[in-house]
Amino acid sequence: MTGVSDSIGGAAAATDRILVVDFGAQYAQLIARRVREANVFSEIVPHDISATDLAAHRPSGIIFSGGPASVHVEGAPRIDPGVYDLGVPILGICYGAQLIAHQRGGTVGRNERGEYGRTDMTVAEPAVLLADAGAGVHGVWMSHFDAITVAPDGAVVTASSADAPVAAFEAPGQGLYGVQFHPEVHHTPCGQDLLARFVHEVCGCAGDWNMDSIIESSVAAIREQVGTGRAICGLSGGVDSAVAAALVHEAIGHQLTCVFVDTGLMRSGEGEQVVETFQKTQGIELIHIRAADRFFAGLAGVTEPEAKRKVIGELFIRIFEGAAGGIEDARFLVQGTLYPDVIESGTGHAAKIKSHHNVGGLPDDMDFELVEPLRNLFKDEVRSVGSQLGLPEEIVMRQPFPGPGLGVRIIGEVTPETVGVLQAADLIVREELHSAGLEREIWQAFAVLPDIRSVGVMGDERTYARPVIIRAVSSEDAMTADWARLPYDLLETMSSRIINEVDGVNRVAYDITSKPPGTIEWE
Ligand code: XMP
Repeated sequence: MTGVSDSIGGAAAATDRILVVDFGAQYAQLIARRVREANVFSEIVPHDISATDLAAHRPSGIIFSGGPASVHVEGAPRIDPGVYDLGVPILGICYGAQLIAHQRGGTVGRNERGEYGRTDMTVAEPAVLLADAGAGVHGVWMSHFDAITVAPDGAVVTASSADAPVAAFEAPGQGLYGVQFHPEVHHTPCGQDLLARFVHEVCGCAGDWNMDSIIESSVAAIREQVGTGRAICGLSGGVDSAVAAALVHEAIGHQLTCVFVDTGLMRSGEGEQVVETFQKTQGIELIHIRAADRFFAGLAGVTEPEAKRKVIGELFIRIFEGAAGGIEDARFLVQGTLYPDVIESGTGHAAKIKSHHNVGGLPDDMDFELVEPLRNLFKDEVRSVGSQLGLPEEIVMRQPFPGPGLGVRIIGEVTPETVGVLQAADLIVREELHSAGLEREIWQAFAVLPDIRSVGVMGDERTYARPVIIRAVSSEDAMTADWARLPYDLLETMSSRIINEVDGVNRVAYDITSKPPGTIEWE
């Protein structure tokens, strides 16, 4: 498998870029976000990058993130000292500021106590970075134990707090700036202005990076990469593959063919919507493979969750491969990899295909070069690109949906009958959530069909039928989740509609399990 070149991405042609050097911060991604909110492209690089590699990115400015280490501990992350000689302005945040002090003639002291949370900071000398904040006392977010006691050579101390005598410093002559507090978090009201001043005033970035420029530069980069070749893209119905396909289509038109494997395990109306949107509205060449029968045949008698996933994953791959093989000269594979996926790989420049991705984990031995036009973007930026490319809101704002689809929401055997019941119940959950205006607030809301029956009474008749379980969770990243406190009235409407409208269901329960100990999906 050939990896994607570093130059392809959401903003390959952007002239100004800020590199965020990650020293193990919780907030590195947030720093990159804030810089982008100041309309300057930014990306994260690992702290062990060499000065030469860093210079190759041609940054207009560098931000050293915070991190959990102490500069006094052996093995604490350092930066190649050559980075200070590149002539590129550097802003250190928390550990990053301490590292600058430590490496450039200042002193970092070990405090008796640290500062955590909202802290009053006194700005004595607003200088450049704190010019918007102005002299006086400002609330900032601190999270540190060590503190800079002597600023680096040539630096002016611009602010201090009770336990951080050097809460901010500036050494314009050396291009070095540092803040002990966290300007990237919302709890530091003057933080966004400070970051904006760094990138605009100090680094001289024009601030012309926006969604239009993402699309423009991505289109140029895709054209350069693919040339006259052909590309294929597996559509899953999810946001990421949809936006990646639309973007690549914008760049290379009919050189792109999308493959949509309809597993029969999608949400109600989803298959039709994908075909309608891509083939009819966007005019994208689409191979629509109706494979529900094959999936139901493969799943017959299979009840163990991992076995189900395996059957679904393998069938998907075989069918996708079959379709891809029929597209002559297809050398490029479009993937909807997002920036957080790239960072999580730990390299900052992931080139390998991940096993669980939009198209269900394609094998490594497929001989394609990857096109990953979203690999520099965050989810909300991807949604925004999708909207600008004319994708409908139902696709762009869609909640996450697992690759194996409804197959992991049906406990026990997956059959056309159980899928039909679940699709009907799930549609009601989604419709009612939408009517209540809660669709965007809730991370995921769906129905689950367990393999049990209970006794009920409907009319004057005894019933012995299935329950449906409603699952709705709030989450930031799906790693942890909490059950959503949906209004009782909403739950009641969902429940009575499901019982009245879905044949074979006589009871509705609400799942009140967080993750951990539960998972979001039931299987
Ligand atoms: P769990 O159930 O592990 O799910 O808490 C976390 C998030 O991942 C989604 N999910 C999947 N997505 N392929 C996917 O593309 C899968 O096999 C898969 N399994 C779970 C799930 O919907 C939730 O958002």
